[in-house]
Amino acid sequence: MNQSFVGQARGLAAEIRRRDNFLVVSNYDADGLSAAGVMCTALKRLGKKFSTKILKQLYEEEIQKIAGSAENYIFIDFGSGQLSLLKKIIKENFFVIDHHQPEKEEWPYHLNPLLFGVDGGNEISAAGTAYMVARELGDNKDLAALAVVGALGDMQEQATGLIGHNKEILQEGISANVLSKKSDLKLYGRISRPLVQFLLFSSNPIIPGLTANEKACAEFILGAGIDLKEGEAWRNYESLSVDEKKRLATALILHMNRNNVPDWKIQEMFGEVYTLEKEQKQSPLRDAKEFGTVLNACGRWGHHNVALSLCMGDRGEAYHLALGLLAEHRKQLREGIELMKERGVEEMKSFYFFDAGNRIKDSIIGIVAGMLYGSGAISENKPIIALTHNPDGSVKASGRATGELIRRGLNLGKAFKELQARWGVGTEGGGHKIAAGIKFPAEKKQEFLKEMEEILGKQIQRT
Ligand code: C5P
Ligand code: C5P
Repeated sequence: MNQSFVGQARGLAAEIRRRDNFLVVSNYDADGLSAAGVMCTALKRLGKKFSTKILKQLYEEEIQKIAGSAENYIFIDFGSGQLSLLKKIIKENFFVIDHHQPEKEEWPYHLNPLLFGVDGGNEISAAGTAYMVARELGDNKDLAALAVVGALGDMQEQATGLIGHNKEILQEGISANVLSKKSDLKLYGRISRPLVQFLLFSSNPIIPGLTANEKACAEFILGAGIDLKEGEAWRNYESLSVDEKKRLATALILHMNRNNVPDWKIQEMFGEVYTLEKEQKQSPLRDAKEFGTVLNACGRWGHHNVALSLCMGDRGEAYHLALGLLAEHRKQLREGIELMKERGVEEMKSFYFFDAGNRIKDSIIGIVAGMLYGSGAISENKPIIALTHNPDGSVKASGRATGELIRRGLNLGKAFKELQARWGVGTEGGGHKIAAGIKFPAEKKQEFLKEMEEILGKQIQRT
């Protein structure tokens, strides 16, 4: 691990030990919630008093509302891009643990991997960064499991699996017996989906003839000599024997080959999967990726306490509520994707664009936009920006991109920050190279498209 980064984490931990009565403020997505879970568990184990506040984004008005409500504040998964606002409004007694593009602003209690040359986009997430502090606060190596959930929730894994600090954290979790890794078919839903749905909903990659064709999926699986049910219960991928898994993988490879799917796409179907060893065999929380989706399903729909309780170990009431929310979340994502495909996205010179009106909630518009790549509805050589209208007259735009575009110079977080600097008050944006968001007044939509054309065009051309 980067020793200066570890040193700074240690410094924050020492200061946190000295204080009490915290308000932990974090982001409502999978990574933010995992990160809050890590921090709150560590505080609880220390016997500290704390409360939590989960927000969509750390907008100025939110900081105003929070100010004065606690003795100490820990901002997680945001705050680096709002340091000057925090210094102005909160003034003192706050910690920032984040992995987004930071402002050029000094603050002694600021932990961000980007300040130490560690990539906050693919080497460590907010949950990982919170874990760096937690491992200095006590015997908290078991929390590495949540750190891995956060990293996957933020889509930080590469073709080879987790890299950099994420990989080292994973290793600590394996040593603590809370995590394991293996090479396997990594289509989404290996634990929570019955076999037919496992293939039926595969969007990354699309399986020609099988994705979205239930009858064909059932025939395909039976054709590979695999039973769909065990007694009355539908089987999932994880419950197959080694031999059955091999047969299914071979059949899939042959099928994709026959349908001229490029080799690299086929290879991407296989890779590392991560298991939370302490979770029940059939639980979606057992697969680190699916745990992230469960957290999004709770957090992005306002059920923050359910998500936090899950992260802090509740496998009773919170778990049952979460399963219901998961089903609804998946339905909303499917409907969002259908809407975008039906209406079609506009192709601009430098990006794809979709205005969802008020048909897709701002909290999932980014996820839906990102999923369009896997669905084959858009090509991977342009970023996509999707926009949704809020009841207060503002719009929220979410941008998503691909690894290839980043290599060619694209940086969506920087692009949105640049527009915020140009437009000033009323516009707040930021994020990562590959995924970012921005809020601005609805009447500026046309101007927004023009500005994006210019800023993104320049970024991509520069290489
Ligand atoms: O706030 P935060 O960093 O946690 O959010 C990152 C967002 O970016 C997540 O919604 C994640 O799904 C998305 N993302 C993406 N594609 C990537 C990396 C991240 O859509 N390759
Ligand atoms: O909201 P969305 O999922 O599109 O956010 C993508 C990424 O951009 C997240 O990491 C989020 O924290 C970040 N973001 C930001 N400032 C905003 C909106 C989003 O930093 N105003």
